[in-house]
Amino acid sequence: MTGLTRYQQLLVELPQAPKKWLVTGSAGFIGSNLVEHLLNLNQSVVGLDNFATGHQRNLDEVESLVGESAWKKFQFIEGDIRDSKTCNQACVEVDYVLHQAALGSVPRSLNDPATSNAVNISGFLNMLIAARDAKVKSFVYAASSSTYGDHPDLPKVEDKIGNPLSPYAVTKFVNELYASVFSRSYGFHGIGLRYFNVFGPRQDPNGAYAAVIPKWVDAMLSGQDVFINGDGETSRDFCYIENAVQANLLAATTKLESATVCNVALNAQTTLNELFEMIRADLELRGKKIEAGPVYRDFRNGDVRHSRADISHCRQTIGYGPEYTIEQSMPQAIDWYINSAKKV
Ligand SMILES: NC(=O)c1ccc[n+]([C@@H]2O[C@H](COP(=O)([O-])OP(=O)(O)OC[C@H]3O[C@@H](n4cnc5c(N)ncnc54)[C@H](O)[C@@H]3O)[C@@H](O)[C@H]2O)c1
Repeated sequence: MTGLTRYQQLLVELPQAPKKWLVTGSAGFIGSNLVEHLLNLNQSVVGLDNFATGHQRNLDEVESLVGESAWKKFQFIEGDIRDSKTCNQACVEVDYVLHQAALGSVPRSLNDPATSNAVNISGFLNMLIAARDAKVKSFVYAASSSTYGDHPDLPKVEDKIGNPLSPYAVTKFVNELYASVFSRSYGFHGIGLRYFNVFGPRQDPNGAYAAVIPKWVDAMLSGQDVFINGDGETSRDFCYIENAVQANLLAATTKLESATVCNVALNAQTTLNELFEMIRADLELRGKKIEAGPVYRDFRNGDVRHSRADISHCRQTIGYGPEYTIEQSMPQAIDWYINSAKKV
């Protein structure tokens, strides 16, 4: 198939030779999007989640989107990755593991480092052992841009990291260390995807630890204040969910000689002030007048100041080529928030 990208080829090949995938964290934002795409590609999918931060409504939405016959190929295990037996059970006869389950959020980890450690490190290790013992073809896991910590260089290149700035960042870095040791010790080569601020449908707008885009869209839709931590010049490389799905599917189907980690983003930088204006402009086009500007408050402990990913290693290693910029994809994300607000 000439002229097609590796991802386009994969989208043709996968339905012809269906495989069995395990998606941990399948009731969460990224996990439920992975489940939806895989079922649409005629794959068999096992989902594992304990609903710590995920929701049944995410799975219900996937069911309604993929339809009855694809949904029959989904098996859900309600369980906790801190339990090794559950991890072993979930890996039975699985070809590819996409390990997303973890407790996200820098502030959550600062408030309760022990639980983040138990889930994100012990739970991760349980999954790594289970996947190795089940002899799965590949183990892809959610790493994080927080691993760059206080390293000042931009764009971020995978092998140049600084000191972690939060317990969450420690847990995600330890995942990479374990994956690397399992590669050297057992020849089991995991691949970590360092996500940079992924956003899109089903990202939870509620709760103290909500991510910035859903929180702000929700606040603007309901006429509440939008808070910016710091002066608004903090920047991020926002990455639409479709790009993250692409990276997972490519990573899982790439044969590796050793463990590696890849940045998943766009090599673009948007400040929080720009983000505020982008969301406001989109909502105003839809007829929603946003009179109030953002409310500035103190910088948040543990936050990285600037973030932008070099994605050349990800391109070279797995053939990643992001297809959605923040400008192209923000309207789709906002569509989803408006529709889901109507359903409540
Ligand atoms: N969204 C981002 O921008 C981003 C950035 C960097 C890294 N990540 C990582 O990506 C992964 C997915 O994040 P998300 O944004 O979809 O978050 P999410 O909270 O929506 O999803 C995480 C899922 O894991 C589940 N989970 C948590 N603890 C569990 C446990 N002990 N056992 C089983 N399931 C458990 C939750 O219930 C939830 O459904 C996480 O590992 C996160 O750290 C996300």
